[in-house]
Amino acid sequence: MKTEVAPQCLPEKRSLIEERELGNSGPELADPSLAFTLDPDGDRDLVTFIFTLRKTKEPALSRTVNIFEVYEAQIHHMESREVRKGKGGADGLDFFIRCEVHSSRVNTLINSLKRVAEDVSVSKEEKVPWFPRKIQDLDNCHHLITKFEPDLDTEHPGYQDLGYRERRSHIASLALNYKQGEPIPRVDYTTEEIATWKEVYTKLSTLYPSHACKQFLDAFQILEEHCGYRADNIPQLQDVSSFLQGKTGFYLRPVAGLLSPRDFLSSLAFRVFQCTQYIRHSSSPMHSPEPDCCHELLGHVPMLADKQFAQFSQELGLASLGASDEDIEKLSTLYWFTIEFGICRQNGALKAYGAGLLSSYGELMYSLSGEPQYKSFNPDVTAVQTYQDQTFQPAYFVAESFEDAKSKLRIYASKIRKSFLPHYDPLTCSVEILDKPHKVKNALSQVQDQLKNLYFALDKLS
Ligand SMILES: [Fe+2]
Repeated sequence: MKTEVAPQCLPEKRSLIEERELGNSGPELADPSLAFTLDPDGDRDLVTFIFTLRKTKEPALSRTVNIFEVYEAQIHHMESREVRKGKGGADGLDFFIRCEVHSSRVNTLINSLKRVAEDVSVSKEEKVPWFPRKIQDLDNCHHLITKFEPDLDTEHPGYQDLGYRERRSHIASLALNYKQGEPIPRVDYTTEEIATWKEVYTKLSTLYPSHACKQFLDAFQILEEHCGYRADNIPQLQDVSSFLQGKTGFYLRPVAGLLSPRDFLSSLAFRVFQCTQYIRHSSSPMHSPEPDCCHELLGHVPMLADKQFAQFSQELGLASLGASDEDIEKLSTLYWFTIEFGICRQNGALKAYGAGLLSSYGELMYSLSGEPQYKSFNPDVTAVQTYQDQTFQPAYFVAESFEDAKSKLRIYASKIRKSFLPHYDPLTCSVEILDKPHKVKNALSQVQDQLKNLYFALDKLS
């Protein structure tokens, strides 16, 4: 508990009580860059009370302290001053208390306080779900969804195969023990696993020239030349990650299974793509109910080598930081119909860029057959479209270009209700919170410096 008396020797500095009365936000919190509360558990509120205790109501102070104790309020800050004459004479004290209290107890605490204090005013500070602020914080973004797992789902092709389940659990342990920045452990794939990869790789490769977008084809060719993309070899995540870093600054990170949408999207904000390393069951090479290395390496990786697509992916991730559960749901639906099942128009023809399509022979054929419903990509509409994770999509969204999709996403993200804007600093791989004018000005001056350099370069060339 921190208790302060307003410093009388610095008359120009207003007390917290005065700041609150003037409608100001008050002092900075423990993290000076946050003007809101990060809320890891979601069950405690940060509440500020201002109230008056009159001398005539003895022993009001001890009763007040008792109320905060009874409701197990954790006091972060407290200060007092003499009551101003305008409030009925200096016969008591005004108090400012900021405390953390369980959400279910806030109302009863207020009612109890009103029995002993006068002029009780209460304000709750905005709670923001926890999100990573630096790339190392991604070590805490590992919440898996237990859906389609071979150990739990009787419909999973590997459910009856104990050897497969043990192999999966070994590869999962590599991801669970991984720390950001470490080299990604290499997996020595078995002959059976390589045979499964070969079947998928060979069949999908025949469709790519006619069905995949240009960006995918360009990257795929380089991956075949430099990253071990071959029918008889499953590329290693570390090699692919190094390739992507050189292309767009994206890193791969091993993940044990299907991640929660919030954790997955927040990784994208740091240009980190969470990748599974295991492969689907050999009995079902052309279908996997969950992401596997065929889906990641064939579907996602080539597109992450494109600068516009990488920027689009990161902006989707940045929009998710600190967003409400409702907005996360919409952003993950946007992710689904773009990065997973997106279609774009190139030279008048529809081409696939979504990883869910580019790693599924059946749906890749179906999605561009002219049979399904096609809609123009519009984030407001796309974000609420119902989707399918068991069969083909009921509709596909067509982007005119990644530049166009990015602009539309940016407008959509700006409308998400948040009191701050996250700004990614690629030099420190961290997210700065733009919640004060001076921070925005600092970020702007950095951009201005970069623009000046580009202007000078253009001037020199011309
Ligand atoms: Fe995926």
